[in-house]
Amino acid sequence: MSSQVIPVEEFDYVVFGGTGDLAERKLIPALYHRHAAGQIVDGSRIIGAARSDMATEAYRDFARKALEEHVRRDLLDAADVDSFLARLAYCAVDAKSDKGWAELKALLGDEDRVRAYYLAVGPSIFGDIADRLDQNGLIRERSRLVIEKPIGKDLASARALNAVVGKHFREDQIFRIDHYLGKETVQNLMVLRFANALYQPVWNAAHIDHVQITVAETIGVEGRGDYYDKSGAIRDMVQNHLLQLLCLVAMEPPASIEANAVRDEKLKVLRSLKPVDQDTVGQVTVRGQYKAGAAHGEAVPGYLDEIEDKGSDTETFVAIKAEIETWRWAGVPFYLRTGKRLPSRVSEIVVQFKPVPHNVFGKAGAEMHPNRLILRLQPDEGVRQSIMIKDPGPGGLRMRDVALDMTFAENFEADAPDAYERLLLDVIRGNQTLFMRRDEVEAAWEWIDPLIDGWASTAQKTAKYTAGSWGPTASIALIERDGRTWHEAEG
Ligand code: BG6
Repeated sequence: MSSQVIPVEEFDYVVFGGTGDLAERKLIPALYHRHAAGQIVDGSRIIGAARSDMATEAYRDFARKALEEHVRRDLLDAADVDSFLARLAYCAVDAKSDKGWAELKALLGDEDRVRAYYLAVGPSIFGDIADRLDQNGLIRERSRLVIEKPIGKDLASARALNAVVGKHFREDQIFRIDHYLGKETVQNLMVLRFANALYQPVWNAAHIDHVQITVAETIGVEGRGDYYDKSGAIRDMVQNHLLQLLCLVAMEPPASIEANAVRDEKLKVLRSLKPVDQDTVGQVTVRGQYKAGAAHGEAVPGYLDEIEDKGSDTETFVAIKAEIETWRWAGVPFYLRTGKRLPSRVSEIVVQFKPVPHNVFGKAGAEMHPNRLILRLQPDEGVRQSIMIKDPGPGGLRMRDVALDMTFAENFEADAPDAYERLLLDVIRGNQTLFMRRDEVEAAWEWIDPLIDGWASTAQKTAKYTAGSWGPTASIALIERDGRTWHEAEG
């Protein structure tokens, strides 16, 4: 099966922070892939914008290096690379002064086409850029703004940031990226749930025992210590990625796939989360921080060796037992866990169904396992549904747990595209379904803030775990107390 490529209309993508890490590792490679796939029509341009002076030729060199480093060699075609680089231009622009804005305006010209402004810069200058775009008449009907996390560090700062960009752009022009929503399996979750009659009737507390969402990473903080130490896993991963995944599992069927229909349903889930505060935080959350250990057989330093503040108690691991207070989900725990320096890089959602109500098989029935639906986000994107079958052959009745395997890698010619490929072009299509609306971001903080405050007021410290292990033992106890176990997530 090869995927169908439908070109998007002509656009200008202006990437503020065009020489930064995100542009280099993700945005330029993603746009290259879409260009090579034939999805970007002639005339579309990508304009890098940053403070330093640089000629367009030098920017193209920068982009060529980014491609060489971050695109698989067999996907780098010399002719495609050249035609891609020819789309690139550079403009030196200073967010804090008038420098470069007239030049940017001249470069963009007067043509009425889709313009996307991607702010691949720190949130502290979102407001400056939005102000200057407006002052210079660069925001038009078909202009769009793309921003990324961190969207605030708590509810108040998220509101302030949303207000700063909302002053100049309408909500339907603002695309808040959560790159987890662009992952193939995450979109497949919606298709699985709403394009099959099979799951909907059993997707509730009567049939589902619990849900597990694991996002495990092997990497440490990778030179991002300054940012990370102020965020920790709760702000870096849970407030956005894990809660978004939880919403897609738990939301009611939307009336359509239209952006606001989907986002209305996600918002209801966030607002139905059982509050976690100082009275409950100690029972339903675990914080961890890695100490020196091993990754892939090699010794790796501990978190405190990698950051400035040697007394930091920032968590690099979190496990949470979350609950959703609705008729559909009452009594069904959603166990969330994420951490750095875990044994394998694996992200998955496990939906564990209840056991059958009665064993008709006598002793042989002891082999029965409850069904599990496993949605693997990475690596090896795919979906597995475990079911019980009879072990083939004569003799006594034996049973076996087998997986109906819908692994994408075997079903598609190419690898699953990177999340950014889809999201960057959804911005041009004007499709906000996979982007977070203002109220969603704020509702997520409304749930996270009391949890973090609870940690502070109860002085809940991180439990140390050895790099290369599955986090603190308290995380195992969190789920085992309820008579359940973490699914063994092999990478
Ligand atoms: C980012 C976090 O949002 O997601 C990082 O800031 C994390 O800390 C990354 O490593 C994980 O993304 P992925 O796509 O590699 O799972």
